[in-house]
Amino acid sequence: MCGIIGVLGDHEAAPVLVEALKRLEYRGYDSAGIATVNHGHLDRRRAVGKLVNLSDKLVHEPLAGKAGIGHTRWATHGAPTEVNAHPHRGRTVAVVHNGIIENYRELKEELAALGTEFVTQTDTEIVALLAQRYVDEGAEPVDAAFRTVDRLKGAFALAFLFDGYEDLIVIARMGPPLAIGHGDGEMYIGSDAVALAPLTDRITYLEDGDRAVITRAGAEIRDAKGALANREMRQVRLDATRVDKAGYRHFMAKEIDEQPTVVAEVISHYVPSGSDEIILPDDGIDFTKVNRLVLSACGTAFNACMTAKYWFEKLARIPVEIDIASEFRYREPPLVPGTVSVFVSQSGETADTLAALRYCADKADRIVAVVNVPESSIARESGLVLPIHAGTEIGVASTKAFTAQLTVLYLLALKAAADRKALSGEQVADRLSALRGLPAVMNAALDLGDAVQRIAIAVSEARDVLFLGRGTMYPLALEGALKLKEISYIHAEGYAAGELKHGPIALIDSNVPVVVLAPGDDLFDKTMSNLQEVVARGGKAVLISDETGIAQAGSGVWMSVPMPKVHGDLTPILYAVPAQQLAYHTAVAKGTDVDQPRNLAKSVTVE
Ligand code: AGP
Repeated sequence: MCGIIGVLGDHEAAPVLVEALKRLEYRGYDSAGIATVNHGHLDRRRAVGKLVNLSDKLVHEPLAGKAGIGHTRWATHGAPTEVNAHPHRGRTVAVVHNGIIENYRELKEELAALGTEFVTQTDTEIVALLAQRYVDEGAEPVDAAFRTVDRLKGAFALAFLFDGYEDLIVIARMGPPLAIGHGDGEMYIGSDAVALAPLTDRITYLEDGDRAVITRAGAEIRDAKGALANREMRQVRLDATRVDKAGYRHFMAKEIDEQPTVVAEVISHYVPSGSDEIILPDDGIDFTKVNRLVLSACGTAFNACMTAKYWFEKLARIPVEIDIASEFRYREPPLVPGTVSVFVSQSGETADTLAALRYCADKADRIVAVVNVPESSIARESGLVLPIHAGTEIGVASTKAFTAQLTVLYLLALKAAADRKALSGEQVADRLSALRGLPAVMNAALDLGDAVQRIAIAVSEARDVLFLGRGTMYPLALEGALKLKEISYIHAEGYAAGELKHGPIALIDSNVPVVVLAPGDDLFDKTMSNLQEVVARGGKAVLISDETGIAQAGSGVWMSVPMPKVHGDLTPILYAVPAQQLAYHTAVAKGTDVDQPRNLAKSVTVE
């Protein structure tokens, strides 16, 4: 959602803050700003749009000082303008905030009644002005900040900086993540360890309700009740080098191409070489005692859960409930004994998914996190963490994380099938052998990128696009539509192919490309009937299948992608490649911002 950073250093703070904000820009890029205290004087610089605009401003209007805070914004309250950019400030207090203050209107009215004037449309401004009021009433900075935090309702990761105090940052967390970085004679705060990686690997994560007083000497953390809290300092090994494009035009293109390596990496972490045993961390899960699985996530991660439902039910014969996290807890679903809840999240910080996890915390027998960030909030609140080992994913549109999630979930389904003897040892071994061969087949699929690009150039002219699939190709149809719409801004919808005739077929005409995902499996023939329904109405059918399927489909197909063959279980992982490439090349053809599409953020830490 937003990224916050702070430093109490022995060098100029501005360049450190800006470099850290570059590593946080994936969390939002509507505006950016920093504030510093220099010889006691508090000042700030802000700029609308990408971080580069703030960097440009700092060249012409430099900001000195060795204590500072910074922010990169994904707008919630108030348009993305310079006035609404963080840091927000009063006369002697500056604040950066990630989250949403749910009672800001009430507090704004209270302050307005006291004569406070506001200049922004944001919720965060009231945090700065409330703290300012307490300072003006004589409170010391720490007390003013804590009293302000006590008044807030909602989700917040906050950092306060005070005029006249060059060795003080006060922070507080309720919901969105907030980490403390321990340097040598320096201290840092940040939304996540990625931002702090070039500065330190000694990280302390605040828990919900915590607040902390940071000075160069260290951090004093107190819990929600005000008692001193002893939070673990962890050594977090993160790739401290700046994640770069390695010659690719976009991070997304690089991350699509990384997928064969990532899938191989995942397999090597869970299946020891030369063995056909799937090893889970810690004490794993004994699926003989599991009566039901509940899978919940958002966006692409939900599409992975939806795919996994087919695998768990078909291979392991376990009933699976799935739901998007933003709906899940409001249904108040009853969880029966023997339920294991699985939460899938690339960032591990998605607020909706974290809220769903917390709903299950005291109801499910086990909480499992499938995440790309093992130190994330979702991971830290789970009983079992299954890392997806995808490496840092910078592109806002998730690609390698999706296929890594699928691979972990498939291995989990195979383990469940083995535990419950729903599959024989030989059947599991055969599938693991096919899985080990998948990276090579994915590489072959990547080589079809030029064919996909030709389709993308034609698709980029469309106003509406449909994606169809049956079985595990149905969640992939949803994922293909999500990829296309979120980076090319073309309206796209995914449908179960069998559902087309129950309404959506009304959309079909010669302006509507229909992407049909149909590997040569037992659902192929039925899916071809749906494809013919499209062709009969002048729709432009794009068939993604294998050579055999394309030959059988006949002449009505507008364009096709001849995919390599693979074990039927694995088609969702393999066919994700052309779906991602189609979205990528369409967006490039349209000239949209592939890695940082409008209105989006990589990690949505508000509900
Ligand atoms: C995927 O391309 C989107 N960026 C978005 O749907 C994303 O999958 C969703 O916000 C969930 O994020 P998470 O995996 O970090 O929880």
